[in-house]
Amino acid sequence: MERFLADDSGSLREKVILLDFGGQYSMLIARRVREAGVYCELLPYDTPWEKIRDYNPAGIILSGSPASVYQQEAPRCDPAVYEKGVPILGICYGMHLLAGDLGGEVKKGSRSEFGRTTFTIDQPEPLFQNSSFREENYCCGWMSHQDEVLQPPPGFNVLARTENNTVAAIGDHQRKIYGLQFHPEVFHTPGGNDVLKNFLFAICKCSRTWTPRSFIEDAVAKIRKMVKGKEKVVCALSGGVDSSVVAFLLDKAVGERAVFIFVDHGLLRLDEAEEVVQLYREKLQGQFIHIDAKNRFLRRLNGVTDPEEKRRIIGNEFIAVFKENALSMGDIAYLAQGTIYPDVIESGSAYGSAVIKSHHNVGGLPAELGFELVEPLRELFKDEVRLVGSELGLPASILKRQPFPGPGLAVRIIGAVSAEKLMLLQKADAIFRQEINNAGLSGELWQFFAVLTDVNVVGVKGDDRHYGPVIALRAVVSEDAMTADWARLPHDLLEKVSARITGEIPAVARVVYDITSKPPATIEWE
Ligand code: XMP
Repeated sequence: MERFLADDSGSLREKVILLDFGGQYSMLIARRVREAGVYCELLPYDTPWEKIRDYNPAGIILSGSPASVYQQEAPRCDPAVYEKGVPILGICYGMHLLAGDLGGEVKKGSRSEFGRTTFTIDQPEPLFQNSSFREENYCCGWMSHQDEVLQPPPGFNVLARTENNTVAAIGDHQRKIYGLQFHPEVFHTPGGNDVLKNFLFAICKCSRTWTPRSFIEDAVAKIRKMVKGKEKVVCALSGGVDSSVVAFLLDKAVGERAVFIFVDHGLLRLDEAEEVVQLYREKLQGQFIHIDAKNRFLRRLNGVTDPEEKRRIIGNEFIAVFKENALSMGDIAYLAQGTIYPDVIESGSAYGSAVIKSHHNVGGLPAELGFELVEPLRELFKDEVRLVGSELGLPASILKRQPFPGPGLAVRIIGAVSAEKLMLLQKADAIFRQEINNAGLSGELWQFFAVLTDVNVVGVKGDDRHYGPVIALRAVVSEDAMTADWARLPHDLLEKVSARITGEIPAVARVVYDITSKPPATIEWE
């Protein structure tokens, strides 16, 4: 099956290759390089030189790793990478590896230089030049590895040392090969970005060619090259950022030859489906098909209480509805999907990265649909998707949309789902979101939503005893949803939300606020 690959455009965009040895910051390094305006692609550490060469890299970065170069099974790169004249920057393990491979000596150091460490610079040019990182040749870097370089390889100089005389940076100016003991990409290394930029611009001689606009031009050209003549491409819309950006790109590239299908499973937030439909109808030139499948999904979910079973049913039903509609159109050859870069690299090819995130995304469509895939966002990180979306003119309501699970409110109604419960939750959730927005707090939160629990409790309404459900409010701060902290929302705000929910939705007996972080909890309740 033909894929929309990051590298098949023939574009002149410069690339830096990051060989990933499984370091915890590999993804962050790639993002930092891209933020500097240079396209960076992660490849598995053992990628053969012949494949790396095809990328025509302007530079190669060797990442960190939990491994030690002493280990018998230590991950190694193709030694040819050192011999081709391409500038190299080894970070942490990457430095130990290149130092050992090129004839230097690496030893196990003491644990005394973990975390933030100061060091002095012997040779500022070119890696440390003009760096805000330096103050009178003193600087501060974040170290996280016990191994260290005892003796640099022949041809290398020590560029910087710590107070304990540990080698903090080495370089061979002739061969343009450099190594850093510390991590320039992390927040704890102030000015570390300048070091990365010196590598990119002073050493690799890159220019800033990676911008949202250049990405859009390339992506549109690639889509046109792929979807030719009278061929048509279909795209499943969910109202989320990724599928919306794909839709706008397709629309720009092939206009009326794009068919957009919005499967409305009825599990979106209050009024969301209508907003999405209106936006797409207004902005897209391609054919837009809105399928109201709410009743069909509710029927399938009737009486189902197990969360994973709900997810499975919704996922399968989504595929069934999409398939019926897409196949009935007859003349469609391509399917566009919003796969993004973390999805691509999370398939785990780096050393030690055996853990693969379990995907419970409803929009994922199976290969057997028989379409060829167009995946224009395969090379983008999430924040880059937003930048591209903004350049394409997507409204803030879509770009700033908080993450929303594919199975929607079905996993926020604990236990069986029904039309009545859906309506009740939609109302409570809308009140909570409205008050958060009014308080100007939405930008500070990762997600905020209401959950309809399956607990009924006693309350008093007017003079009467009332027996009804508990609504839980959940608001979290997070960087990436892997971990999350419960948000310290102002008590006045919580009080107002509680009063409005119990006042405006008579059935609700009680409102509680979830004060559990992730871990041990998850963000969603199911
Ligand atoms: P948890 O609940 O695992 O959620 O802490 C982490 C992030 O993933 C979202 N989430 C989902 N997204 N389908 C999705 O597309 C799902 O089934 C699903 N479950 C959780 C959740 O909203 C949070 O952002």
